[in-house]
Amino acid sequence: MVSTGLDGDVAIVTGASSGIGEATVRVLAREGADVVLAARRRERLESVADDVAAEHGVETHVVPTDVTDETEVRSLVAATVEEFGGLDVLVNNAGLGRGSDVESLDTSQYRQMMDVNCDGAFFATRAALPHLREAGGNLVFLGSFAGQYPRPANPVYAATKWWLRGFAHSVEAAHGDEGVAVTVVNPTEVRTEFGSEDGEAFEEVFDPGEVTEPAEVAEAIAFAARQEAPTTTSEIDVYRRDKFSHF
Ligand SMILES: NC(=O)c1ccc[n+]([C@@H]2O[C@H](COP(=O)([O-])OP(=O)(O)OC[C@H]3O[C@@H](n4cnc5c(N)ncnc54)[C@H](OP(=O)(O)O)[C@@H]3O)[C@@H](O)[C@H]2O)c1
Repeated sequence: MVSTGLDGDVAIVTGASSGIGEATVRVLAREGADVVLAARRRERLESVADDVAAEHGVETHVVPTDVTDETEVRSLVAATVEEFGGLDVLVNNAGLGRGSDVESLDTSQYRQMMDVNCDGAFFATRAALPHLREAGGNLVFLGSFAGQYPRPANPVYAATKWWLRGFAHSVEAAHGDEGVAVTVVNPTEVRTEFGSEDGEAFEEVFDPGEVTEPAEVAEAIAFAARQEAPTTTSEIDVYRRDKFSHF
């Protein structure tokens, strides 16, 4: 399997304003990629973009984007191609978990998870595919352990991640022969802002050293982004070592 750096590659990261997305921007920039940062919180994106541009000497571009809005997502991809002349890597990372059990989940929580985790990834993938095909590029999805095993604590969140893996591998099957690589990265618990919409963020719930850090997941994403034809790594599981004792 051939793995090179990302010098001169152009990457879009959705959900780049915090957690795994922010860490991914930092690692891709360290590897030499020019990075386009997308999420809703403009100031957070600008601060990360300025930071990595200064530290790694790469180009960055901030495009505030709500991934549930297909027009904004089309503009994100169009702005990337206009700014950098193409697109090599899309990281479909924006996502969230709301609520818990089915009976107490309200419809707006249900809808938001479906809209961001599923529709958002579809909109971005659809807009990016022609450019990824041209580049022989890499498409990376943030799946989850919850998308591989049943999750009694939040069946709808789990279902969005099962959907995402099904979509990702079907896109892989449809476009692999055109040179597009697809990888699903499946973390267990990661210390980020995840969970903050309805309770305590995982970065507060878990102490450092207890579960995975965002930078560790970002290294797996960068590995996926570096894959070169004819090979792809379809799934990367990034599990806390004691996960199956808590399963
Ligand atoms: N943390 C974990 O334990 C864990 C485990 C497995 C998988 N994951 C997955 O990893 C991915 C990243 O999550 P994280 O843990 O890094 O959580 P996080 O720190 O809460 O980051 C979530 C990111 O998604 C963005 N986002 C949310 N709604 C959006 C929207 N409508 N449009 C654009 N961006 C939106 C947020 O940015 P704005 O608020 O600025 O829009 C933020 O940058 C998610 O797909 C999550 O499901 C997380």
